[in-house]
Amino acid sequence: MESTFAGRIAVVTGAASGIGYTVAHHLAERGARIVGVDIDQRIAVLVDALPGAEHLGIVTDLTDPAAATAAIAQTVETVGVPHILVNSAGLALLDPAVDVTPDRWRLTVDVNLGGTFYMAQAAGRVMLEAGYGRIINLASQAAVIGLDQHAAYCASKAAVLGLTRVLSLEWARHGITVNAVSPTVVETPLGKAAWAGEKGEKAKRDIPVGRFAQPEEVAALIAFLASDDAAMITGSNHLIDGGFTAI
Ligand SMILES: NC(=O)c1ccc[n+]([C@@H]2O[C@H](COP(=O)([O-])OP(=O)(O)OC[C@H]3O[C@@H](n4cnc5c(N)ncnc54)[C@H](O)[C@@H]3O)[C@@H](O)[C@H]2O)c1
Repeated sequence: MESTFAGRIAVVTGAASGIGYTVAHHLAERGARIVGVDIDQRIAVLVDALPGAEHLGIVTDLTDPAAATAAIAQTVETVGVPHILVNSAGLALLDPAVDVTPDRWRLTVDVNLGGTFYMAQAAGRVMLEAGYGRIINLASQAAVIGLDQHAAYCASKAAVLGLTRVLSLEWARHGITVNAVSPTVVETPLGKAAWAGEKGEKAKRDIPVGRFAQPEEVAALIAFLASDDAAMITGSNHLIDGGFTAI
């Protein structure tokens, strides 16, 4: 396997599952040291089993604004200043808009937007000092289109795009790129739960390529944005949607 990320330190949130886990595996296979950050207690065992050595798992709840500062401080202390941050922790709580409770609204915004912001801010501080960084935020196709029962989710993901643009402008002259990746439904635990049954079959028929995305396809795009080759790409949203938004 070509070792594109040898010597690189990559912090990946949501690394215990789905896209985050697949990104962690993809980067580790290519030489990166991984710091996996997740609320899931299994994170330490999961990152330990990744290819390569000396990865770190941090169990934390990213709805706590102090969690990001602590996670980055622990990363710097035990592994080093991160070169890459992938914000993949997220959740999708689906309700008709009239039924969204304040608790479910707040949790969605706190994880999908707050967690992403606080991690980017904490990582950005040390990346600014180092003069290098690659930050990739998982938004979603739902950031640019409306989806039935996704009021909180679509709002939180659209906000991630706004955040991505601002950070990219502020940090562009300091060697840091900030981009968003916006998949259609990806076959992960989150994607499968939200799009089970006939609803999912119809959604697949509506996607021009006729299927959902695989986590590995999303990881490959993220890895490119995390590489040195992508130095000129910043502030953009990268759809990976099988043509859905081209309709
Ligand atoms: N799967 C899809 O269809 C799809 C499509 C577009 C965008 N996305 C986005 O991609 C990202 C990853 O999605 P996925 O499908 O891999 O989901 P997933 O459910 O498989 O994994 C999400 C991870 O985030 C972690 N997490 C949740 N709340 C947390 C918290 N408070 N603190 C720390 N960690 C927390 C979970 O424990 C889990 O390991 C999400 O931001 C999601 O919105 C997913």
